Formats: sequence, C-alpha cells, structure tokens
Amino acid sequence: MALKKELINDIITVTSKAAISCYDFIGKNQKKNADKAATDSMRNEINKLSINGKVVIGEGELDKAPMLYIGEKLGSGGNLNLDIAVDPVEGTNFVAKNLPGALSVISIAEKGDLFNAPETYMNKIAVSKKVPFEATDLDFSVEKNIKNIADSLNKNITDISACLLDRPRHKKIISELKKMNVKIKLISDGDVAGALMVTDEKYGVDIFLGIGGGPEGVLAASAIDAYNCKFQGRFIFDNDMDIKRAKQMGIENLDKKYDLKEIIRGDSIFCATGITSGDLVKGITVEDNNYITQTLVTHKSSNTCKIVTREDTIKT
Ligand code: FBP
Repeated sequence: MALKKELINDIITVTSKAAISCYDFIGKNQKKNADKAATDSMRNEINKLSINGKVVIGEGELDKAPMLYIGEKLGSGGNLNLDIAVDPVEGTNFVAKNLPGALSVISIAEKGDLFNAPETYMNKIAVSKKVPFEATDLDFSVEKNIKNIADSLNKNITDISACLLDRPRHKKIISELKKMNVKIKLISDGDVAGALMVTDEKYGVDIFLGIGGGPEGVLAASAIDAYNCKFQGRFIFDNDMDIKRAKQMGIENLDKKYDLKEIIRGDSIFCATGITSGDLVKGITVEDNNYITQTLVTHKSSNTCKIVTREDTIKT
C-alpha cells in the first residue's frame, strides 16, 4: 500500500519544527541540549498525527528515555500503522560548533517495512544509479569497485569521486583510494548526507563507502531507494553486548550483507531539514520574524524527490 501524499506535509512539519527547536543551541557547544530539544519536539509533533507509529530506529533503548527510544509508540491512534526511524539531530557536533551539515531526519514506512536496526556500526556502500547494480559490491575490493565504476561511467579512475567519513578506521581505504589517485571527499561527520551525495550528479560523488552508524545507514537507504540508487550495508557486531542485542532483535546471521530492498520495503517518506547549511539543504535562517527552513523530501511511490522551503512564524 502506498503512503498518502498528504502525509508528506505532516512529516515536513515534524523535521522542520525539530530543526527549529535546536536553533538556539547552534554554536553553543551544547550537544545534549540540542538533541533533547529536537527529540522532544519530534515526539510532540508526531503525537499530533492520527497514526499508530512505532520507533524502529531511535535514540537508544527504553532505559535511556526520555530520548525517542526503540519500541516507543507514537501518534494519536487510527488505522495507519507505521514504522518510524528518527535522528532528531544528525551531526550533533555540527550544531554544537556551528559547522555546515546538521540535519533533522525522519523516515516512515508501513509497519514491518523498515529494518529494525541495532545501534551498532555498519559497513556501507552507496552508488550512483548510473552505475549498473552488479558493477559494485560491499564485498569487492575498493580497487575493483572504483575500476568498475570508472568503466561503467566511461571515466578515468582519476575522475572518480569517493566520499567517506574521516576516521582512523578508514586508513586502509583512504590509502587505497590515494594510490589510485581517486578524488576523495572526506567528511568529518554526517554520513546520512554523505551517502545521499551519490543521488545527484551535482554533488560530484560516485561512491560513498566505509563504516558509520547503522541507524544512519537505514535512514539513508530509505531516501536512496526513492532515487533508485544502490545501497548495501553490513552491521558490525564486535562485542558481546551488541551480539546479544542483535540476537534479541531476531538477527541470526550476524555477518549478513543487506541489500537496499531488505532494509526498506514498500513505500516510504523521508525528510531531512537543514539545521546548519550543508550540501543537501540550507540551514535555518531568520527573516522578518519567521524561521525559514529547507527540507529534502522523498516519497518513493509518487517519485517525489524535492526540496521544500517553509516559513514558520516566531512566537514571542
Ligand atoms: P551524531 O549526530 O549522533 O553525533 O552522529 C554523527 C555521525 O557522524 C553519523 O553521521 C555517523 O554515522 C556516526 O556519527 C559515525 O560515528 P563515529 O563518530 O563514532 O565514527
């Protein structure tokens, strides 16, 4: 079943209000306060909607409440049963330090259609839709993926651009990319936006790769689905607690590689509102007693991928 288009505006309201709620914390070095403000706002706004929602990707477990926790029920009720993935502030460092790229993010799908992801790291690749599906794979070497992308796009290897988080764990990948003289876009945080760089030529990224948050992987996958690009991910369970938790969540094969369609099935709506300006959307600005926000919106079934600008009056 397709999610009604009318829901799009409701979800834009949720992320834009969450973004606005942490506006006062931009550049104030108060990560936790920003996150709490956005989380409380999201809960408030989603609870106004006539839905039966359940958080499947959230801000931790029940014992970490009052954050939006996995399993939390949201919405005022009705017949529409939804799975909800939230990241009230994606890029908490960006907000704290007033750096580009902070987003407030949500994805919704029908109950059972959104992967119930544990809070572990995920090894991921996202690739432009111009590259045939079989040309890249999470299990191929970096060199093979890059060569295949270059062949498919009829480009020189040195013109291929790869984006990844700037982390010590990526030392080997970065040195392989350097050896091939690939254009490397290193990001300090925010790998939802990083993965979405493959969705449009204007961002100049052919492949996103490397290890980042699992929840962020699922959120990115739901938007990438609407752009018909490729995404693959494999969760990393490298300690007893994560392994136990994965088993409790029903994950039997801990080494499984997930294709996009196993992460997000059916229809979905994804919204990412800019808190600070980044590659995808502009951050919040204040003009004539209004907050102006930009939201990147995707809706799979209506082939919607667009940026929506909104004005919200500042209440005094
Ligand atoms: P937060 O906003 O929760 O701080 O996440 C930012 C982020 O960069 C994510 O985009 C990314 O998936 C994750 O952190 C990477 O984790 P780490 O900083 O531990 O490498």
